[in-house]
Amino acid sequence: MKRLLIVLIVLFSSPVCLIAGNLPVVIETRNTCLVYNVDSKNKLVQVYLGQKVNNYSEYGKIPSKGEAYVSSGTTNLNEPAIRMIHNDGNPSLELLYSGHEVQQVDDNVSSTTIHLKDAVYPVEVTLHFLAYKEQDIIKSWTEIVHHEKKPVELSHFASSMLHFRATQYWLTHFHGDFAMEMLPEENRLTNGIKILDSKLGTRADMYQTPVFFLSLDKPSDETSGELIAGTLAWTGNFRFLFEVGKHDQLRIIAGMNPFASEYELQPNEVFTTPALIFTYSNNGKGTASRNFHQWARNYGILDGNESRMTLLNNWESTGFNFNEEKLTDIISDASDLGTDLFLLDDGWFGNKFPRVDDKAGLGDWQANQEKLPHGLGYLVNEAKKQGIEFGIWLEPEMVNPKSELYEKHPDWVLRLPNRDEHYFRNQLVLDLTNPKVQDFVYGVVDEVMTQNPGIAYIKWDCNRMMTNTYSSYLKDRQSHIYIYYVKGLYAVLDRVRAKYPHLPAMLCSGGGGRTDYGALKYFTEFWPSDNTDPVERIYIQWGYSYFFPAIAVCNHVTSWGNQPVKFKMDVAMMGKLGFDIDLGKLSDSDKTFCRDALKLYKEELSKVIWYGDQYRLVSPYEENRAALMYVDRNKQNAVVFSYTMHNRYNDEYNYLKLEGLDPNKVYKVEEVNMFPGTKSKCPENGKSYTGDFLMKSGIKASSYTPLTSRVFRLIAE
Ligand code: DGJ
Repeated sequence: MKRLLIVLIVLFSSPVCLIAGNLPVVIETRNTCLVYNVDSKNKLVQVYLGQKVNNYSEYGKIPSKGEAYVSSGTTNLNEPAIRMIHNDGNPSLELLYSGHEVQQVDDNVSSTTIHLKDAVYPVEVTLHFLAYKEQDIIKSWTEIVHHEKKPVELSHFASSMLHFRATQYWLTHFHGDFAMEMLPEENRLTNGIKILDSKLGTRADMYQTPVFFLSLDKPSDETSGELIAGTLAWTGNFRFLFEVGKHDQLRIIAGMNPFASEYELQPNEVFTTPALIFTYSNNGKGTASRNFHQWARNYGILDGNESRMTLLNNWESTGFNFNEEKLTDIISDASDLGTDLFLLDDGWFGNKFPRVDDKAGLGDWQANQEKLPHGLGYLVNEAKKQGIEFGIWLEPEMVNPKSELYEKHPDWVLRLPNRDEHYFRNQLVLDLTNPKVQDFVYGVVDEVMTQNPGIAYIKWDCNRMMTNTYSSYLKDRQSHIYIYYVKGLYAVLDRVRAKYPHLPAMLCSGGGGRTDYGALKYFTEFWPSDNTDPVERIYIQWGYSYFFPAIAVCNHVTSWGNQPVKFKMDVAMMGKLGFDIDLGKLSDSDKTFCRDALKLYKEELSKVIWYGDQYRLVSPYEENRAALMYVDRNKQNAVVFSYTMHNRYNDEYNYLKLEGLDPNKVYKVEEVNMFPGTKSKCPENGKSYTGDFLMKSGIKASSYTPLTSRVFRLIAE
């Protein structure tokens, strides 16, 4: 069978062409292919998802794995992708294939749109796919529209449904809680349904992170095994459902969580789901992660190929207890250390209800006159005088009951009628489904920016989930609240980005509560956890590295943990480095070390870490040490991190075999970031080896002393 060809529909308004495609529908990237066909009943079926085959015509010969987007109410006996109750009360859908188009968006991205229609009711479902060739990533989402006379009810609305046939399925997911994010767990799926989901409303992550690996036939490791890695671009309730049925068939249904979210869809209203973003790898998890990293830098996070500012934050050292003088000193410390920016955290606002702790003031975004008599502008100028930038913390979606905002607009708050308010961190969530509240939240950002020209960075926090969830604005459409909240948030962020397109911004949510590509496209980076103990951080950062690139993960050197500052620094360097520590409490030698280390990071290491390919070499979950490395794209430079967390009497560490190097290049190995007065104990330090040797034989990278670390720089000669 020939490749997609045939009828060309020329789009006069656009330089690109839509090609009405032949069957089968082939969605392909550099190494991967997702193929759909149409069965004898005119239903769209998925026939293939995996490594590209050599002979294109053979896609047409592959048997069906299952209906592509299964509906409910007729013959389906499993979990559906979509369920709709029509306005006449008929609870069924039968979706038939009605055509598809392919569009080459640019050299790297192609778009495929498949149209499904119900034969009886005027309902159309459109499956969208964007294939990112170089990154081996596919993004898939769905649009649902109907032309009935009255609204219909949608109770299931998957973004994507995928089918597999393998002998076994191994699911890796990541769970956690505050200060213990991203704990991996891998289990074999048994017959029946396994659900990963969240019902937190304001965020996806916290107890379950919206990411998964699904390994086929056997568990995969870093370098081998066939798997799918997926994540949902949505900042609210999500659900990944894995159903293993007869003959070991597996269906994945991914999308917004239908929990308490029956949606009244108006005639002609287009219901657009968020996207499932996934990659296929037959070389294990390492390749899948690198695919995500590369995709995220180019498409998933804001300005992912641009530079980042190192910073000193004041949260860990001052909490709410600061004034102008203290902050001016910290600004001077930040400048002296060599960071690019000082970030003022929580506690700078509120006058009638001063923000002296977390019980009051949230919502009143005017500088506290006692702490900051000359306002924020003064601090912006102080930073400028010291040659650095100034950034500010905001939590604009939230309110303390003790605030002027709450006094003025009690109806702007999500809370149940006839029941007590339920507080989390003494605060409530503002009702972002209400356009007036959206205006307010946008105004918080815009006013702080316009009234204090020169602010160069924001940290956007969100310290609670939804409970007692009810919107007085939504009235009898309460089941829309979870969806409308997130759409309201995106509407605000769209406005912020329209006016401040490149303002660097950290996404934070009481630690790592918002780590999804729905929100991250508006942010340059995110805060992965309030737990900054470096030993804990090795695990947490390791976890995030499966799906998020190092440039997006903020790691700060703090006073958590009793480890030497060298260890803290080496851990924080494996991402976007910052500080949140009272520099006055560091010894002179620690301070000198930090200054030198920061310089080394900024001038030499950061580019490889931020834009390079990451290889996880030794997992902290498997040994008492951990090691990982980054290699730049032309394989000229690499940075290797090696950490020894704990050492048992019998531990014997193998040579660390490196990865990702050019076997034919010769690299000089140099241990860097040494604490003043210490010498490298690595036998390979200062010597040169081929990439081939380094990848096959390796270097003696790990130390045997607990809580020590080593950083190596490799430069091709
Ligand atoms: C939670 C964040 O994770 C912290 O970094 C800090 O910004 C506090 N909120 C401030 O309230």
